[in-house]
Amino acid sequence: MDPFRGRVAVVTGGGGGIGAELARAFAARGSKIVLADVDEAAMAKVEAELAAGGAAVCSIRTDVSKRERVEALAEAAVQRFGSVHIVCNNAGIATFGEIVKSPHEDWEFTMGVNFWGVVHGVECFVPRLLAQGEGGHVVNTASMAGLVGMRWLGVYCASKFAVVGLTEALHRELEPHGIGVSVLCPMIVETSINENSVRLRPAHLRSQAPPPAPPPTGAMKGGIVSAVSVAKRVVRAIEERRLYVLTHPEQREILRRRAARLEAAFEDLAG
Ligand SMILES: NC(=O)c1ccc[n+]([C@@H]2O[C@H](COP(=O)([O-])OP(=O)(O)OC[C@H]3O[C@@H](n4cnc5c(N)ncnc54)[C@H](O)[C@@H]3O)[C@@H](O)[C@H]2O)c1
Repeated sequence: MDPFRGRVAVVTGGGGGIGAELARAFAARGSKIVLADVDEAAMAKVEAELAAGGAAVCSIRTDVSKRERVEALAEAAVQRFGSVHIVCNNAGIATFGEIVKSPHEDWEFTMGVNFWGVVHGVECFVPRLLAQGEGGHVVNTASMAGLVGMRWLGVYCASKFAVVGLTEALHRELEPHGIGVSVLCPMIVETSINENSVRLRPAHLRSQAPPPAPPPTGAMKGGIVSAVSVAKRVVRAIEERRLYVLTHPEQREILRRRAARLEAAFEDLAG
């Protein structure tokens, strides 16, 4: 069965970057699209473009950090299209700075969007997918920062490790129900995430403390790939029902080194 044609895909963070490219890629494959984002103007542009291309599409203003908004999104999606099959919990923000210097507001903002946003997506959509009994796929956007702890990204890493852990568990739970689960873990992707993350921080989580120093030049490793190429990888992962979606060849060596460090931790046990 074609996982895209005639199916309904919900994409949070669909107003730009990776989310908008996921929506474009699914629409090109014949899916109906529900965009969800806090940025209504950005979403409206993507919606108009997809509609002009012949897609059935709607957009619903949603702050994923609020459970009741995600529940309203799920209800609205089902009301509009009858069911939901692909759920991309993709909305996210970036946070930089060393942990000891991170204001408490950074934790709340980052976990609110990156962690709770995904939890809300799972809570509000997965029971519906199960009740429908029509299969489907959940894609949670984490990051390479969800697979390796990185200096300058500690708060962000915590939010993304949580997403990887819950997605690995969800994959095991939903497999017997014929529902695929993937976790997207890119390194750097060409999007406006840094600017958006500053602009979108709610007033009550703006810290009085000076912002932590930005990472020094060269601290962020790896090449930069396009959001289009990332969306292609996600489409393939859905087709092939693959759990991990990696995007950069450089990831292999970094993950090997992590695995080697874990392996080395057993040396003491041998004697
Ligand atoms: N760009 C990268 O280098 C990179 C790398 C690894 C992982 N990621 C992850 O990819 C995902 C998408 O990021 P992107 O790079 O496309 O950034 P982006 O800023 O271009 O897109 C993110 C979208 O999410 C929306 N958003 C932010 N907070 C929201 C909220 N509370 N509720 C609903 N929508 C909200 C923004 O308005 C924006 O349209 C994020 O989860 C991010 O952490 C990005």
